[in-house]
Amino acid sequence: MTSGHQTEPCPWWLGYVLANPLRKLMQDPSSLVGPYVAEGMVVLEPGCGMGFFTLELARRVGNSGKVVAVDLQPRMLAGLRRRARRARLIDRLDIRLADDDRLGVSDLAGQVGFALAFYVVHELANPAGFFHEVHEALGPEGVLLIVEPRAHGGGEESLQVSIDLAARSGLVLLDRPNFKRNQVALLGNTG
Ligand SMILES: C[S@@+](CC[C@H](N)C(=O)[O-])C[C@H]1O[C@@H](n2cnc3c(N)ncnc32)[C@H](O)[C@@H]1O
Repeated sequence: MTSGHQTEPCPWWLGYVLANPLRKLMQDPSSLVGPYVAEGMVVLEPGCGMGFFTLELARRVGNSGKVVAVDLQPRMLAGLRRRARRARLIDRLDIRLADDDRLGVSDLAGQVGFALAFYVVHELANPAGFFHEVHEALGPEGVLLIVEPRAHGGGEESLQVSIDLAARSGLVLLDRPNFKRNQVALLGNTG
């Protein structure tokens, strides 16, 4: 069974393509995260890239919440900073540089209400460690939404591998929401 993992981060310049506003026509951030994010929440976004989803998350958490945006590539984070400053949302962001095999979010233990990993899981060098860190960061009602492109790896089969791996960290499958033609899984913290 293939895991569908490529373990190579997407090139930094693709960050500009992914952050293009025209992407909204195909993948509307508001309709994706709207059901899960409320004002005042702590949100975690591993693999945020240049922030196509991050800015919408920051709008939704309001002044009393925060979005912890983590990426492996400094150039992705520089792009995110620029866009967040322009949108006057930078104060709602906690921007962090990840290690190859570690997000570095242990200080968030039990605080995160929503985590989004959009087109990230297939790139992770250490998916087991990733699910462990996210599980630790989620609060009792916290959820993790994974979205993966159908084109990558083994399709449904590779998402199932990720779901099984996540289960070993205590993350259970809650739902399989629809989002365009992607593979999506909503996972919850069992405590
Ligand atoms: C295909 S891009 C998606 C970016 C963003 N989520 C979006 O949809 O616009 C994947 C991102 O995950 C990041 N990434 C890959 N491995 C990572 C890791 N171990 N920790 C944090 N970020 C990682 C890459 O640097 C890249 O910015």
